[in-house]
Amino acid sequence: MSDPALLAIRGLRTWFTTRQGVVKAVDGVDLDVLPGECLGVVGESGSGKTATFLSVLGLVKPPGRIEAGQIIFGGRDLAQLPAAELRALRGRDIAITMQDALTALNPALTVGEQIVETIRAHDRGVAGPAAARARAVELLRLVGMPEPERRLGDYPHQFSGGMRQRVMITIALSCRPKLLIADEPTTALDVTIQAQVLDLIATMRRQLGMSVVLISHNLGVVAEYCDRVALMYAGQVVESGPTRAVIAAPRHPYTQGLLRSMPLLSDPDRPIRPIAGQVPDLIDLPEECRFLPRCPHAADACRHDIRLLPAGAGRWARCVRIAA
Ligand SMILES: Nc1ncnc2c1ncn2[C@@H]1O[C@H](COP(=O)(O)OP(=O)(O)OP(=O)(O)O)[C@@H](O)[C@H]1O
Ligand SMILES: [Mg+2]
Repeated sequence: MSDPALLAIRGLRTWFTTRQGVVKAVDGVDLDVLPGECLGVVGESGSGKTATFLSVLGLVKPPGRIEAGQIIFGGRDLAQLPAAELRALRGRDIAITMQDALTALNPALTVGEQIVETIRAHDRGVAGPAAARARAVELLRLVGMPEPERRLGDYPHQFSGGMRQRVMITIALSCRPKLLIADEPTTALDVTIQAQVLDLIATMRRQLGMSVVLISHNLGVVAEYCDRVALMYAGQVVESGPTRAVIAAPRHPYTQGLLRSMPLLSDPDRPIRPIAGQVPDLIDLPEECRFLPRCPHAADACRHDIRLLPAGAGRWARCVRIAA
């Protein structure tokens, strides 16, 4: 993997112990986020995207637990960091916008109170309430909120979906983090608002010089906004590399299948073929390639655990055919 990464995840396993068995939601994830880059993380629902990045922030709740692995950020292993230090790091160094803006925001506090609270928590109240409020207004203006002074007094439910995402992005950016994790920031939004929110994140990335992880199930969105992409399948990264190269010539059969299942602007008449079969049950997974039951190239060699293998310039793929 390329060095030096801002964030380096190695062999991460985050499991949920349920009555039905152990759900291996994240099961050996290797991932790098480079300084200043936008990394797209793509995968079907349930592939472990959210669980991976909640692990980075120490936000996995019981019955979930980090079982193994390293999360290296700023020379420290976040998987080993005491809760108080992780709390200090959240927001200040790494911020997240949650998949569901309405539940992530506190319904009982005004948007202004929530932004001011975050700003003051991280500068330990140095700025004072008036300065923090002025900064909140400035940030809301920056993210394109009309009449920010007035809207500071409104509650989350009084905003549209797109504006709520902007509020979350404002809170996330209020402490100028080095890394922003945007978990499906646009899924609930209509197409024009989607583009506005993604453009906003791209602009803020340039202005603040931060890295962004954009979690999405939409490879088209990632193709447009991300320098590199990592594809997740059943709790593992199955392919990663520069977005353009991966999309032009995907190496893993899952990536190939995903690309065939989406329409292309450049070739709208191409037939769309969904990937046959189902995502495997994450309980009692056999020690073999997880894509095996759905793979058109399945062979005996796939019946053991397969690692991410170098697959060209800056590229990795978890497939035996790479080694061949
Ligand atoms: N609290 C929990 N208890 C049990 N299983 C859980 C829990 N939270 C997540 N999981 C399981 O972990 C797996 C990964 O979930 P995760 O939310 O990371 O997926 P995702 O890739 O973000 O999906 P989506 O695209 O739907 O957001 C899923 O199978 C999910 O059911
Ligand atoms: Mg998710």
